[in-house]
Amino acid sequence: MKRQLHLNLFIHGRGHHEAAWRHPAASPLALTDISYYVEVAQRAEAALFDSIFMADQLAVGGDVAQAPRTWLEPITVLAALAMATQRVGLIATASTTYTEPFNLARQFASIDHISNGRAAWNIVTSWLATAAENFGAAGQVSHGDRYDRGEEFMEVVNQLWDSWADDAVIDDRTSGIYARRDRIRPISHRGAFYSVAGPLNMPRCPQSRPVLVQAGSSDTGRRFAARHADAVFTAQMAKKAAQEFYADLKKLAADGGRSPEHILILPGLSPMIASTEAEAQRLAREANELTDPEVGRKRLSGRFGGYDFSRLPLDRPLVPEDFPDPRTVQAARSRTEVIIDLVRRDKPTLRQLLSYLAGARGHYVTAGTPEQIADLIEDWFNTGAADGFNIMPPLLPAQLDAFSQGVIPILQCRGLFRTEYVGKTLREHYGLPWPVSVFDDPAWTGELREAAAGV
Ligand SMILES: Cc1cc2nc3c(=O)[nH]c(=O)nc-3n(C[C@H](O)[C@H](O)[C@H](O)COP(=O)(O)O)c2cc1C
Repeated sequence: MKRQLHLNLFIHGRGHHEAAWRHPAASPLALTDISYYVEVAQRAEAALFDSIFMADQLAVGGDVAQAPRTWLEPITVLAALAMATQRVGLIATASTTYTEPFNLARQFASIDHISNGRAAWNIVTSWLATAAENFGAAGQVSHGDRYDRGEEFMEVVNQLWDSWADDAVIDDRTSGIYARRDRIRPISHRGAFYSVAGPLNMPRCPQSRPVLVQAGSSDTGRRFAARHADAVFTAQMAKKAAQEFYADLKKLAADGGRSPEHILILPGLSPMIASTEAEAQRLAREANELTDPEVGRKRLSGRFGGYDFSRLPLDRPLVPEDFPDPRTVQAARSRTEVIIDLVRRDKPTLRQLLSYLAGARGHYVTAGTPEQIADLIEDWFNTGAADGFNIMPPLLPAQLDAFSQGVIPILQCRGLFRTEYVGKTLREHYGLPWPVSVFDDPAWTGELREAAAGV
């Protein structure tokens, strides 16, 4: 069988386009109505997507008057979606900077149990400056400190997920033994940021550990992803940059002793699809005409850690000097580099830049026929730019349906995408190995066994 593509659906508002929420083709349901998320997730499952994903930010955006978000807390949403779907993987974002590892390990293990092995966690360090103010921090936690904390966080959650052996629960009514004490171990973690005794207060989850997703793109972020991620989301505006990113992450993973095919690279793709290219472009223009440059300006400022763009004229070509040095940005640093690269290459005016970013916030935006979108996907997939895509429909659910009914059948005909689910878990959909239990590790000695048994 040919190497298979992986497709994730990124659910964001009523679509990824900045003006999607007010577009006539977008869902009429409220963004706080769980039936909206259920409907979209069920459509994704019917189309055989590997997974669906929900992002999260821990503060209201300054642009809230004209820009709604996917408001509901994503782990809670996954619990509801787990009951309304059977096969599609379920990915939610949670922060290593503003969560305790014990809580998070427990929540994702619960989702993995509830969904019978379909849970995944998008690990973020939370770049939004205003998030810090909601958690007692005096100001933005620096980029480096966030990743240092994230590193220790991963050590703790991985140990917690490993703290029960697969066979720890016997549940034997005859002997009166529920669990084998020697197959459950404390973790006794003492580090710079966390102190956690363990074990987790829950049996090992169906996938052993939830699947781990990450989207760091800076040097530090890439190294973090190469160490921990099973799948990596990334925003790329050109194939060449996507190829460089792909090669770099695969190399970093291999250098760290991992098998490169066990870390999937999924760039974002936001396609506006119609039966002719002219119609697809008309739809894209129609959505762009609903945007407000002042909303875009505020969002751009948020990306650059609150930098003031209010005096930049809308209609003069931009130069890199109009932006702060990305190295000084404590927010989503890599996205700022992507934006400055675009300015250097295409010299857009601020109005043009904001219009492009309105499409999908710096991800690859295109408009075309199903055939053209399938060609693009196949090309990136076969030339070392992607293992699959993070599909970001500009309008939901209309453009998800256009993708599912138009593009997926072409990918299936070309033998690139499944025609039915084979596995039941997300780990199987993504073709990932099963993590080895620490209890099956030869280093798991008699001394440790005794500690776990509490003797
Ligand atoms: C597809 C995608 C989804 C993301 N989702 C979130 C999110 O939900 N919450 C968040 O705080 N950051 C999110 N990010 C930002 C990344 O976690 C990361 O901070 C960003 O790409 C900058 O990389 P860096 O941290 O290495 O500088 C996302 C990034 C991408 C590409």
